Amino acid sequence: MSNLPQKRAIIVGATSGIGKELAIVLTQNNFLVGITGRRKALLDELQQLYNCEVSCFDIKDTATAIMQLTILTQQLGGLDLLIISSGYGDNNPDLDNSIEQSTIDTNVTGFTAVVGWAYTYFKQQGRGHIVNISSIGGLRGGAAAPSYGASKAYQINYLEGLQQKSNRQKANIRFTDVRPGFVDTAMAKSDKKFWVSSPQKAAADIWNAITKQRQVVYVTKRWEFIALLLKLLPRKWYVKL
Ligand SMILES: NC(=O)c1ccc[n+]([C@@H]2O[C@H](COP(=O)([O-])OP(=O)(O)OC[C@H]3O[C@@H](n4cnc5c(N)ncnc54)[C@H](OP(=O)(O)O)[C@@H]3O)[C@@H](O)[C@H]2O)c1
Repeated sequence: MSNLPQKRAIIVGATSGIGKELAIVLTQNNFLVGITGRRKALLDELQQLYNCEVSCFDIKDTATAIMQLTILTQQLGGLDLLIISSGYGDNNPDLDNSIEQSTIDTNVTGFTAVVGWAYTYFKQQGRGHIVNISSIGGLRGGAAAPSYGASKAYQINYLEGLQQKSNRQKANIRFTDVRPGFVDTAMAKSDKKFWVSSPQKAAADIWNAITKQRQVVYVTKRWEFIALLLKLLPRKWYVKL
């Protein structure tokens, strides 16, 4: 047994997929873990299996989200690591505004409230680590789900802004922007999927990036190549794809 004090983490959006697998990995690595989501039955199941603290809330309700995160942190006895794995997006061929709005409410409004809460908490504490699961989809616009790509671009940009703020304020906060390609979860809705990783492999890669305090990581690693292509492709060609 290590004599080091047990570290504490909250994963927002851990009822399924990448967040759930990260909860398992962190528990195996001696973290005391708090998990959140809207599906209470799944949270209760995970609590039984992995002895974690749970909190049920919708991040679209930002006031409740912040209150619940504060309570969960007290239950854990502190916080060292905050991971945001909650996300929403759907194919939107007819540009149904309710889909676009739900995406913005979750991935922009909810994300901003949660990440801002974590920044303030860690700044006061004088240390901490914020990890956000954005997406390779945040690098360029996307016809199938325009608000999804745009919301992920917002997250990428916002996290970079907070990292610069932390440096200016000497807040001593670490940041990791995780940009997955396709991962085999309910969120992978494209009908043209390739290089699909398991959520277990994605969680293992993300854990590795957390321990190395990587600033940006593509999951899996080969998606770095696609990212490079996406960044280089001229707009006049990209928009015809
Ligand atoms: N899978 C992929 O191919 C892929 C690729 C790139 C990026 N990502 C990103 O990876 C992250 C994790 O997604 P995943 O693939 O693991 O899919 P997932 O299994 O659907 O997980 C999404 C998680 O977000 C939570 N969530 C969604 N809306 C929420 C809300 N309004 N309030 C609170 N929690 C909410 C869900 O919990 P409840 O439903 O219980 O609330 C669930 O735990 C997302 O940000 C996604 O955009 C995924």
